[in-house]
Amino acid sequence: MLFLAGTLSLFFALGISLIANSARAADGPQTICPGEIWPDDRGQHIQAHGGGILKRGDTYYWFGEDRTRGLSRDKRYVACYSSTDLAHWTFRNQVVALADPENLGPGWVLERPKVFYNSQSNKFVMYAHIDDGRYKYASVAVLTCDTVHGNYRYVKSFRPLNHESRDIGQFIDDDGTAYLIFEDRPYGFRIAKLSADYMSIEKEMCLIPRHMEGGALVHYKGLYYAIGSSLTGWNPNPNRFATATNLAGPWSEFKNIADPETKTYGSQSTMMLKVVGTKTTTVIFMGDIWRPQMQWDSRYLWMPLEIGDGKLWLSKPAPWTLDIKTGEVTVEK
Ligand code: GAL
Repeated sequence: MLFLAGTLSLFFALGISLIANSARAADGPQTICPGEIWPDDRGQHIQAHGGGILKRGDTYYWFGEDRTRGLSRDKRYVACYSSTDLAHWTFRNQVVALADPENLGPGWVLERPKVFYNSQSNKFVMYAHIDDGRYKYASVAVLTCDTVHGNYRYVKSFRPLNHESRDIGQFIDDDGTAYLIFEDRPYGFRIAKLSADYMSIEKEMCLIPRHMEGGALVHYKGLYYAIGSSLTGWNPNPNRFATATNLAGPWSEFKNIADPETKTYGSQSTMMLKVVGTKTTTVIFMGDIWRPQMQWDSRYLWMPLEIGDGKLWLSKPAPWTLDIKTGEVTVEK
């Protein structure tokens, strides 16, 4: 009897703790905490570095480099997560697990994946920076999939408009037109329009003769804002922005997005995300805080930007919440 009671209470205690754990996992962090571990629905730190976001209906899909510790050294990986509030992320799939498709050798690179949906072909088209270990191949890789978080198939690599291309960024304008931003080392920051099926580049929109990586664009209240970082590898630097009324330019001078001494609070831009709510529109700065020796532990710096009238400012990171319906944000003091 005593034994039975003991066993029952053990089961009871275990049951309670299991319930508590699953509740915690389901609740997850509602607040976005820049620079901290960002757990997915499994409680694992999100692996979507150098990432991009694709919105389909009410769902946001976050794609990025999966640098989980212990993955094969020969392959490169992209993971995909989904969310309807930009705070809770559900792991969907490791959408790319690719072995060196162009024989680039050990240390080959697949970075900054960005996914576009093409309504003409009904396919999801992923662009990424593909390179050898010395960053001389300097090309884009194109992969496609019939479903948003299925297994992407490698199609090809090429140099956009025959230019060198390292860091890439993605931009979808309010009219739905899709653009690729790429860093062309000899010349600068280029913005190019994708072809009708998104499988190639149709034309160049502009060349900003500035050497900038981590290119990001947003169209906000009649102005285009472009952000980029300097070329300091994994080390942070002061990211800058410029504006133009037309993608083709002319572009204004570049200015700091934050106090330059903070080096963008240790982060590097990867994208700007515009959330149009019922009450207001919020533009989120998405940056990476790289940890080159422990890439799996690289963090994210997402903060709402102060933006408008040609000004853009990234305020000091602090935990914040977003009301995805109204578009309003609350930043903790
Ligand atoms: C950074 C770039 C990263 C990665 C790194 C390698 O400048 O933004 O995506 O390529 O260099 O050193």
